Amino acid sequence: MRSVSIIGVGLTKFGEIWDKSLRELVAEAGIKAVADAGVEGKEIEAVYGGTMASGRLIGQEHIGALIADQLGLNPIPAHRMEAACASGSVALRNAMLAIQAGEHDVIAVGGVEKMTEVDTAEVGFALGGAGDQETELFHGATFPALYGLMARRHMEEFGTTEEQMAQVAIKNHKNGMNNPSAQFHKEFTIEQVMNSGYVASPLKLLDCSPISDGAAVVIIAETEKAKKMVEQPIEIIGSGQASASLALTGRSNLTGIEATGIAAKKALDQAKLEIKNVDFAEVHDCFTIAEIMAIEDLGFFKKGEGGKASEQGKTAMDGEIPINPSGGLKAKGHPVGATGVAQAIEVTEQLRGNADKRQVKDAEIGLTHNVGGSGATVVVNLYKRA
Ligand code: COA
Repeated sequence: MRSVSIIGVGLTKFGEIWDKSLRELVAEAGIKAVADAGVEGKEIEAVYGGTMASGRLIGQEHIGALIADQLGLNPIPAHRMEAACASGSVALRNAMLAIQAGEHDVIAVGGVEKMTEVDTAEVGFALGGAGDQETELFHGATFPALYGLMARRHMEEFGTTEEQMAQVAIKNHKNGMNNPSAQFHKEFTIEQVMNSGYVASPLKLLDCSPISDGAAVVIIAETEKAKKMVEQPIEIIGSGQASASLALTGRSNLTGIEATGIAAKKALDQAKLEIKNVDFAEVHDCFTIAEIMAIEDLGFFKKGEGGKASEQGKTAMDGEIPINPSGGLKAKGHPVGATGVAQAIEVTEQLRGNADKRQVKDAEIGLTHNVGGSGATVVVNLYKRA
């Protein structure tokens, strides 16, 4: 099978970006990625774009074509992929498959979301569409509420505490201090997290990822070609995707996301690796409990021990397995369609040795874990230097 590598990356700052429209964010990230890869527009053969709710949030659909247009890439084929918060990773995976199939050699993959144009209630409603409209959202179960239910069950079965969840937020905000693109550059104490006010008990404001604007673009290429194009391509050595029921009621248990384990196994088998070979990971911490479940479901820690591991600093930059060196969705921000592509960018920068103050020591194998909804879509990818 043909192999695929990342040859260029471009990221906007994440946050409340009032002075740039969705298309300007895409153009900014795209120009940076093309410059980083040193490619010309005519070398790019297709565009894959991930966005979740641009129609609802800013009234703009047809984002694949918009990205191609903004980057001056017409008339190449352009695609939009939607898989809720995993849209960016699904776009990247499908672009990768198109190269593996031999259809294309060089593709631009973008992810974007502009979430701050409408108020929080409207964003919550739009995001809630990633769950089951009929059985969840219609009854008021927005995403903080759904993850709140999972947190309650995790606390009940394993004794996980609100303080342990708070440690995830404290660590990710600390990591985010070293990420210039992050939405927040602010550290929090345990008292501040614990007193930050319930959004959906037991989850508090500081257990939640924020509402964000932002765009991310990577240029990918067939690996042999990539080696001729740039000094250090970053190869995607394994990729897995899995689905599960949209609604929590369809799951066999609420203390984890089964699709994570399935996607991770596929990626690891493809890469011929075990989870212990992974040096660091960018995981989907849309809520602090989501990071605790992710590190268990991926196999870094036994089921039920993620809370304790977080409390003991095992996931810190100098811990057993650094999780979310970028600051994660919690501190870096979560413009939903852009998140999966931004995770791939962080891993690329780490493996290039370009992550500056947040550089993971001896980083050889990186992992990304991107979840859509409450776990109905999961993509896991593994990367190393080509
Ligand atoms: N983490 C840290 N700080 C946050 C924050 C977050 N998640 N959300 C908001 N803030 C800060 C703001 O910067 C602001 O600080 P300031 O007063 O110093 O300026 C303050 O808290 C109030 O912000 P505001 O915009 O009024 O918050 P809000 O009540 O409108 O929204 C949430 C807060 C938690 C409801 C919102 O961030 C949210 O819905 N998050 C979840 C998003 C989500 O579900 N994503 C998909 C996951 S699957």
